[in-house]
Amino acid sequence: MNRCPRTLAIGIGNQKGGVGKTTMAVQLAYALAERGRTVLIIDLDVNAGSTKHLGIDPRAYLGTFEVLMGDEDPLAVIVTHEDEGNTLPENLHLLTGSRKLEELEERLRMKKSKFDDTPLHDVLKPVIKKLRGHYDYIFLDTPPSAPLPIVAAYKAADGFLLVAIPEGLAIQGLQEALHDIEEVRRYGNPHLKLVGLAIGAVDVRTRLSKELIHYVSKEFKDYLLKPTIQRSTIVPTAQTQQKSIFETHPDHMITQYFREMAQDFEAKIERFFPAPQFISAPTQEVGNG
Ligand SMILES: Nc1ncnc2c1ncn2[C@@H]1O[C@H](COP(=O)(O)OP(=O)(O)OP(=O)(O)O)[C@@H](O)[C@H]1O
Ligand SMILES: [Mg+2]
Repeated sequence: MNRCPRTLAIGIGNQKGGVGKTTMAVQLAYALAERGRTVLIIDLDVNAGSTKHLGIDPRAYLGTFEVLMGDEDPLAVIVTHEDEGNTLPENLHLLTGSRKLEELEERLRMKKSKFDDTPLHDVLKPVIKKLRGHYDYIFLDTPPSAPLPIVAAYKAADGFLLVAIPEGLAIQGLQEALHDIEEVRRYGNPHLKLVGLAIGAVDVRTRLSKELIHYVSKEFKDYLLKPTIQRSTIVPTAQTQQKSIFETHPDHMITQYFREMAQDFEAKIERFFPAPQFISAPTQEVGNG
């Protein structure tokens, strides 16, 4: 694989469950892969949402658990299109989630040497460090309630993409996530940046949807990714088929919205993570003129 000049690890989150985190991680990753970017999804969820969504059996591969335990090199267990029985695009890779993540904290505690004073929640940092240069984006699909993987994602990420659907609890979860981003800046990851807020499953016919969108547009202003994604049956249908809508409905309006959102996502990335400017030294004449 070609080396990528810059890798950005982006946590995808909202403390609440069932608010569209996995859907956003998978569809946005597909859209970015279509734009020619190399993307890795690290599934940090015991329910292995993105692993299943990508049509991969969580029991068939070693993945996030073994890597975080330090038992496997991430590059050795990442699933790619070259592995059997999947339809991943060439430049979209996956580190699988699994039930075993339930035991992560306890197993790490048991394994830890009494001389090792690295905090447990820094467990993802060396993994991301090792993967830098291999991907344009590493998406961290976080679980709804598992303190260690969520905190580990906050500590290891360069940026955070918040995700919500227009429902009261999901919007409340955003406030909690914003508070956590501020806290983690104070405790160990001072450079963590909010990258944006992506809204999915919008029912344009309901007043509540309209009101909540109006509220987040005011609260999050330029951070709100455009467009917002409407509710559509193609999303759960594709999920049931364990495929992306980029495979099942490549020409659908919703799929097109994700393409536009990926474009806006990259515009925000450019703004918040401007590429380093190299000032070239004045060219020196060779010779003695
Ligand atoms: N645009 C959409 N249209 C219709 N349904 C959607 C849309 N986006 C998400 N959903 C549905 O919302 C539900 C929750 O989505 P998803 O699994 O992505 O949430 P999550 O936050 O990852 O959940 P968990 O916290 O359990 O991991 C799913 O059933 C999904 O199909
Ligand atoms: Mg999920």
